[in-house]
Amino acid sequence: MNKIVTIHSFRQSVGKSTLAANLAVLLAKQGRRVGLVDTDFQGASAHLFFNLHEPRGTFNDFMLGKCDAQQTVHDISEQIGAELPGKLFLSPASTQITDIMQMLKLTMNIERYTEGLTSLEKDLALDILLVDTQAGLSENTLMSIALSQTLLLVLHPARQDFQGTAVTVDVARKLQVPTIHLVLNDTSPNLDEAEATQQLWQNYQCDGVILPHAEELAALGSSQPFVLAYPPHARKGQFLAPGLPEHPLTARLETLADLVL
Ligand SMILES: Nc1ncnc2c1ncn2[C@@H]1O[C@H](COP(=O)(O)OP(=O)(O)O)[C@@H](O)[C@H]1O
Ligand SMILES: [Mg+2]
Repeated sequence: MNKIVTIHSFRQSVGKSTLAANLAVLLAKQGRRVGLVDTDFQGASAHLFFNLHEPRGTFNDFMLGKCDAQQTVHDISEQIGAELPGKLFLSPASTQITDIMQMLKLTMNIERYTEGLTSLEKDLALDILLVDTQAGLSENTLMSIALSQTLLLVLHPARQDFQGTAVTVDVARKLQVPTIHLVLNDTSPNLDEAEATQQLWQNYQCDGVILPHAEELAALGSSQPFVLAYPPHARKGQFLAPGLPEHPLTARLETLADLVL
């Protein structure tokens, strides 16, 4: 079954794009046909992970009626690995200031936005379409959430995230999103994870996955997906990369990849 998974947060810079890029790679490594659409029109960044600087052919172009959704797609499967079992298609957002200004002025055409996402899913025969969003509840973000089978809500263990996340969970429930997972990101090694998970459940009635702070990820910034630099252990039937112990953050990201399938 193909799926739309929206990755969202109430506040900016909590790790949405990082999570989206890493999940996309893990799922393609598992043999899935994966789409990743950057809909953060004010803060495009998905392309950075895949060495696409100032990409030509962006989801902005589609929204502005300049091309079809398929014409915005960059096949980056080979970058991930010559023998990648799956596929990874990226539809980036533009970093050009004129495009950003145009998007700010544009009255969001929700029908076109929906058609863009659903046509990508269908025409690329995707198993899963990951939508990286802009923070807050804009019209197009609400539409992504409404179209999703799964919503990943990213938050930091910080007071300013708790209330905003509660509002978003409420909205997603009203929009009847079947599955919501909370992703508590960038946590301290001192966090009592059992207690934090219990608190997430008490506050939001959602399950949560905890992603610890990783200096190695911070050092990479958004220059490449973390799981390419710190790859997962081989699964059954794959060759084992010798001598590379699995990073604990990679293991958590794999758990999340399994959850969204
Ligand atoms: N678990 C983590 N450990 C360390 N740094 C992280 C972690 N998650 C995200 N970051 C860093 O936080 C910053 C913001 O992440 P980003 O994915 O761009 O956020 P968003 O898309 O929500 O704005 C980036 O510099 C990223 O490398
Ligand atoms: Mg982002």
